[in-house]
Amino acid sequence: MLKQIRAWARSHTERDRYSPVGIAFHWVMAFLVLFQLGWGWYASRMPVGGDKLHAYEVHSAAGLPVLLLAIGRVAWRLIIPGPVNDADRQGLQTDAAYAIHYLFYACFFGLPISGWVMWSSIAAPGPLYLAGVIPWPRLPLEELPVMTRWVLMDAAEDVHHILVYLLLLAVPLHVVAALKHHFWDHHDVLRGMLPEIPDAEDPRAGLRHKPRPGQSPERSAAD
Ligand code: HEM
Ligand code: HEM
Repeated sequence: MLKQIRAWARSHTERDRYSPVGIAFHWVMAFLVLFQLGWGWYASRMPVGGDKLHAYEVHSAAGLPVLLLAIGRVAWRLIIPGPVNDADRQGLQTDAAYAIHYLFYACFFGLPISGWVMWSSIAAPGPLYLAGVIPWPRLPLEELPVMTRWVLMDAAEDVHHILVYLLLLAVPLHVVAALKHHFWDHHDVLRGMLPEIPDAEDPRAGLRHKPRPGQSPERSAAD
């Protein structure tokens, strides 16, 4: 079974594309994270009251799925390596891109977990729901002394804020880099992360790209 899944994914990654599963993970999670950044900012600026509490319930409901998706995505990534594309050259730019990807993965875990700790360490009035429907337990912190819970709450809030600020720096860099690769360098990087639309006349038409150093032009043309 695993062998068949790997072979299916390789039929995409060998053409310098992410597999449809990798692409779905990327865009669903990118959408959720961007929504959470906007909604979290909006909720934090609302006046204290029922509407603010409701806004945070929506924030938690949309943020908790990120944790489950993150577990699935890491498992998928461990089984299926990403493609080697035009952006995979040795150098500072590639190292920076990988560092940003690792930071994103840290945020996929760190933001929901720190949010979950915040929600569990104070006597928050509302329950937690995954995607607004499936009940989600609080962490068992109620036995801890009140002071310890406040310290935990404070630390989790700091972690949440630091990760949010790092995301606010990293997301624009990531997006600008993806657009630069596509429009300026004419690399295949962004195309490999977009759903594949087969060309009726020439199914391989969209897959041409510049050869990488050490790659023969024939191999590139054949790609
Ligand atoms: C990808 C996931 C998430 C992102 C990107 C995110 C982002 C944010 C942002 C931008 C804020 C506003 C910060 C500010 O301006 O003060 C915030 C606050 C908050 N978030 Fe999240 N969040 C995520 C997941 C969660 C989850 C799953 C929960 C709860 C289970 C949660 C609970 C909270 C709470 C309680 C606050 C208020 C903290 C405070 O500022 O006092 N977050 N979040
Ligand atoms: C319009 C917005 C975005 C565009 C155009 C975009 C584009 C891309 C592209 C082209 C890649 C492939 C990079 C490569 O293989 O070298 C990529 C990878 C990645 N992106 Fe985005 N992205 C966007 C938003 C986001 C957001 C908001 C997040 C999460 C916060 C995110 C997280 C990731 C991660 C974790 C990877 C690495 C995937 C892997 O190899 O496991 N992206 N993105």
